[in-house]
Amino acid sequence: MPISPRLGLLAASLSSTLLLAACNSSTTSQETTATTTAPADSAATGTSASAMPTSASFGKATDGTEVQLFTLTNAAGLKATISTYGGTLTSLLVPDKDGKLSDVILGFDNVSGYVSPEFKKSNPYFGALIGRYGNRIAKGKFTIDGNAYQVGINNNGNSLHGGNVGFNQKIWAAKPGTSADGQTLTLTYLSKDGEEGYPGNLTVTVVYTLTAANALKIDYTATTDKATPVNLTNHAYFNLALGQSKDVLAHQVTIPADRYTVVDATLIPTGELKAVKGTPFDFTTPHAIGERIAQVPGGYDHNWVLNQATGQHSAATVYEPTTGRTMEVTTDEPGVQFYTGNFLDGSLKGKNGVVYGKHAGFCLETQHFPDSPNQPKFPSTILKPGQTYRTTTSYTFGVRK
Ligand code: GLA
Repeated sequence: MPISPRLGLLAASLSSTLLLAACNSSTTSQETTATTTAPADSAATGTSASAMPTSASFGKATDGTEVQLFTLTNAAGLKATISTYGGTLTSLLVPDKDGKLSDVILGFDNVSGYVSPEFKKSNPYFGALIGRYGNRIAKGKFTIDGNAYQVGINNNGNSLHGGNVGFNQKIWAAKPGTSADGQTLTLTYLSKDGEEGYPGNLTVTVVYTLTAANALKIDYTATTDKATPVNLTNHAYFNLALGQSKDVLAHQVTIPADRYTVVDATLIPTGELKAVKGTPFDFTTPHAIGERIAQVPGGYDHNWVLNQATGQHSAATVYEPTTGRTMEVTTDEPGVQFYTGNFLDGSLKGKNGVVYGKHAGFCLETQHFPDSPNQPKFPSTILKPGQTYRTTTSYTFGVRK
């Protein structure tokens, strides 16, 4: 059955092929501003993995709702901060080859950055949870069991990332905790029947875990009371040399995918799965992002068809030569949207006053393919009542010396 990949058991643990950094615990000079908004965090250096995540105010949403920021820490000193607004990953501190921790995520140090008119105008979805449907649905139209639906149009006549007010703009209920793997943050959201035009009450749970193995793991589950498309992901922008390098063009990327989904001028798949061999889309061996990007009009913003579609498998491996940082993305999804921050234009200034220009970060959005509800040959994204949508993606950090 079409959604069987999602119904498989979650992988109990992930075995990274990367060497994990043995980082020292002198983390007092961390390059982050997240700690300035999270006073409790200042005491967190050396926090044992069994302690609970800390929380602090992240400011107020436009409607006055108080937004919280949670900080997850592991024994090696890695830190992830997650906001209840959009379930957004706002910072992630990981070690470089010298054991120095610094932030590798684009974003802001207060919720005001995520709700500002400039942010909404450029709509980069920094670090946010994306739903109900990640990436595009052509003209926002689809039919399930003979019923036609129209969902919010917000991108060149198409629906992108859930429509006008996607899950990235919702305030999620949050519960900090711990598991055998490390500190956790469980976020829940009820997307009501008809929200943005989607059918069915969709109950969504997302669990972020910062593991002892230096991975940020994201488990997504959802249930519905009417058949509906679901395609959840996270829209983090990474720059493994953030603060040192204005763009990510020197990062070396490997994507184990022999094919990608060809798109039209509005970035809707034509249905063709094209071989990457001999094209600038071939990342089956490591290539710097900047090596062939000029040959791709606009830059990379495509869905790669991963060679392995089920079970936990690699979606991408990234290496940044100056810091030695590595990141491996593993998932059970069949695709990954590799997006190189093509629409960033310098109009947004983030944490530490860093201006985000073109290619300041890249995204690896694990997902089912764009516009699957209108592409019968693509793996199905339809969730039915009685089924449970499950998917897990992990970002594992290490260093290469
Ligand atoms: C995805 C899309 C891009 C862009 C970004 C957000 O990666 O594929 O075209 O919309 O989200 O800016």
